[in-house]
Amino acid sequence: MRAFARLLLSVAVALTSAEASAQSDTVFIYSPGEHDGLHIAVKKSSGWRHLGQLCSSDYGPWGSEKRMYNPSLCRADDGSWRLVFQVNDHSPVFAAAYSPDLVTWRPQDYPRMSVGQCQDPVVRPAEDGFNIYFHSEEGIRMTHASSDFRTFTPDFPMPIYDLPLWRCDVATIGGQRMEGHQFVLSADEMGKIRNHFDRQAAEARLSAERMHDDAQTLAWLQEPVAATLTVDLAREKPISDKLIGIFFEDISYAADGGLYAELIQNRDFEYSSRDRREWSATTAWHSAGDIIIADTNPLSPQNPHHAIVSTDTLWNEGWDGIALQQGGHYDFSMFVRGKKCFRIELRASDGTTIAQATLKAKGKGWRRYEAVLTPTRADSSAQLVIIPLDKRQAAIDMVSLFPQATFKGRKNGLRKDLAETIAALHPKFVRFPGGCMSHGQGLDNIYRWHETIGPLWERKPDKNIWHYHQTRGLGFYEYFLFCEDIGAEPLPVLAAGVPCQNSAANAEGIAGQQGGIPMDEMAAYIDELCHLIEWANADPATNVWARRRAEAGHPEPFHLKYLGIGNEDIISTVFEERYEMIARALRERHPEIKLCGTVGPFHAPSADYQEGWDFIARHPDLQYMTDEHYYESTGWFLHHRDYYDKYKGAAPCKVYLGEWAASTKARRPNVETALAEALYLTDIERNGDVVEMTSYAPMLCKEGHHNWDPNMIYFTNTSVRTTPAYEVQRLFSVYSGDRYVSSELRVHGVADADLSHRVGASLVRDSKTGRRCLKLVNALPVELRVDVGGVQLPAIVECEQFNGAAIDDQQGRAEVIKTDTPTILPPYSIRVIEF
Ligand code: AHR
Repeated sequence: MRAFARLLLSVAVALTSAEASAQSDTVFIYSPGEHDGLHIAVKKSSGWRHLGQLCSSDYGPWGSEKRMYNPSLCRADDGSWRLVFQVNDHSPVFAAAYSPDLVTWRPQDYPRMSVGQCQDPVVRPAEDGFNIYFHSEEGIRMTHASSDFRTFTPDFPMPIYDLPLWRCDVATIGGQRMEGHQFVLSADEMGKIRNHFDRQAAEARLSAERMHDDAQTLAWLQEPVAATLTVDLAREKPISDKLIGIFFEDISYAADGGLYAELIQNRDFEYSSRDRREWSATTAWHSAGDIIIADTNPLSPQNPHHAIVSTDTLWNEGWDGIALQQGGHYDFSMFVRGKKCFRIELRASDGTTIAQATLKAKGKGWRRYEAVLTPTRADSSAQLVIIPLDKRQAAIDMVSLFPQATFKGRKNGLRKDLAETIAALHPKFVRFPGGCMSHGQGLDNIYRWHETIGPLWERKPDKNIWHYHQTRGLGFYEYFLFCEDIGAEPLPVLAAGVPCQNSAANAEGIAGQQGGIPMDEMAAYIDELCHLIEWANADPATNVWARRRAEAGHPEPFHLKYLGIGNEDIISTVFEERYEMIARALRERHPEIKLCGTVGPFHAPSADYQEGWDFIARHPDLQYMTDEHYYESTGWFLHHRDYYDKYKGAAPCKVYLGEWAASTKARRPNVETALAEALYLTDIERNGDVVEMTSYAPMLCKEGHHNWDPNMIYFTNTSVRTTPAYEVQRLFSVYSGDRYVSSELRVHGVADADLSHRVGASLVRDSKTGRRCLKLVNALPVELRVDVGGVQLPAIVECEQFNGAAIDDQQGRAEVIKTDTPTILPPYSIRVIEF
């Protein structure tokens, strides 16, 4: 059962191990500081020598909150280890972790205790498991843990203060006095630990390789490099025809203010300090006087806030201003409660009115009023102005301005230039709505899909984990329509009953996964997931959810085939219990849906990755594929080109590489990161029978609103800038196939240097059209001359070439070239040859 996990450990580069000492050693295990995790030092005649870090705290929000205080360890009879530590001075949890060897750690659990503090936890072996003792505001308490360290009894008071329990050892390491625990480890155990640190150091050296440094490190390489590509046309294998898709998350203003074409910011007056400390219901709105906000008799309970207008003019700044085109048609709409006349104006940045209309609200209850505004000239930073024309008081809400020129002309649609840029990638699937946004900032921020459909004013807006606001105007209906419009499979990803492990503390002071959705609410949560499948696929004549789809304007099914459960969650016991419940129910109720699980936020050999794959090995029936995520340096990608070769025949399910990108210190994608990604994609194509899907992440970023770098596409209100990463994704998507043709690329005699990690080739065929696409990648600073055997390429070809001679360039594009030397590649280039 654990065979696959063991194999995955070897995914890390194999290196010669340090000589294990023939004798046992005394080690000291300690935490040098709350942010430093657990360390190990070995006793030498000269004193303690630090060996390295064994693990770190994974509790709570990113960065400074992940703390480890007072770690306590003990060994079980079988030699395995149990670790507990305090996470802060107020939460009713402590951290609990298991390790077979101090090197591999199972993801941490944070068992919930009944009292407000769990300080100084101490773990000791006991009958049938372990006892954990801790100090709390109610005195010393204890809990009993099962021997697998997964279940913990309710805590109870321990009447005696047993001082020896809290006794620890002391050592001076690097001149500092540390408290910790001494253990004696066998030569074999020490060998494994030393090996682990040797491997880590070697990994770090390899991952540091940068093309940016080639002028120094490869200065000796002046001549073209020769290689042979031997193709065996007779040997083909089927590969996924959905290898390249897109990851859409509302991060860095990707949705509101981005792809969603609404031009009014805070149209519903629902911004609040929950979204961002300094925000309120009037954010993005301006007036000469005070803006009065009310919440009585609202348009909808989901949208309680609205503005009360009498004589003061009100204007909206849009998203960094409103970009308008001369002669463009813009649909203005607004709900009004009351009798009142308004003039609606679009004002250019110099104050000139460039479009206007008059609205006459008829009174009584909420009614929607519309006008079409057509600017007489373009402006990149206009405002929408609402001018009361009488003194009567009225309430306004859902103030909206939409270009009629949306993608495919859809109402409530998508920004045309951005959506067209995405469509040009020809993605085979769209993953949405995130990312961390799917599982959310705490239990009450988990993305509930059904709150994002229906009339806009009845959708439930919410805070966004990326510190702004989600209107949900771009909701599940719009996501599915977009998939349909671009011919991509929808791949919704919803929470596995746990919020983001980086969530801040809730009212009870519990951070991270917050214990997950309570078990007695899980059945209802599972129903919600089933309702999504019904909403997307069922017959409106017989199904109430499908009827809502039909009412929205789409009686035909959306043909949902895939559903992701969980987003790079830590594979804690809380996660596993909930994932299993969800997946079992979905397998039974909707066996037609291909489920995608998750193996945590990082690649092998991280704790979540290993536990995630172990879980899959134990439950191979509970997912069709699993979602892997890793953001890494270019050097890492260059040196892990065989990553998926190791999965062959061993992986218990398919892989979806759902979030990945190469990065450098320059942060934004450049030619170097693009070449590393292109090389890696040739390897993914080779393993297209194991890897079913991939998506670069994140996709969109609005300039000035970064939550993350690198991104594939950067935009402002008036511009869209694609990156070299975009070009690579486009080339591999447009020139894809469903058959991989066997080939072998060999680099010839370049002194003693092995440069094979800097070149790549992949030949795929489309079985429907017969078209073959050969991709050649040269990540070297010199020309690459490939001698191709086993297949006849046309003498002159027209092909796409990405030529990035300037390795730090962030603008590189591919262009079509005509050449009679198609397999002689310029330095730092990619060529795609169709034949
Ligand atoms: O892609 C950006 C973020 O990276 C995603 O929200 C999350 O899943 C990952 O940590």
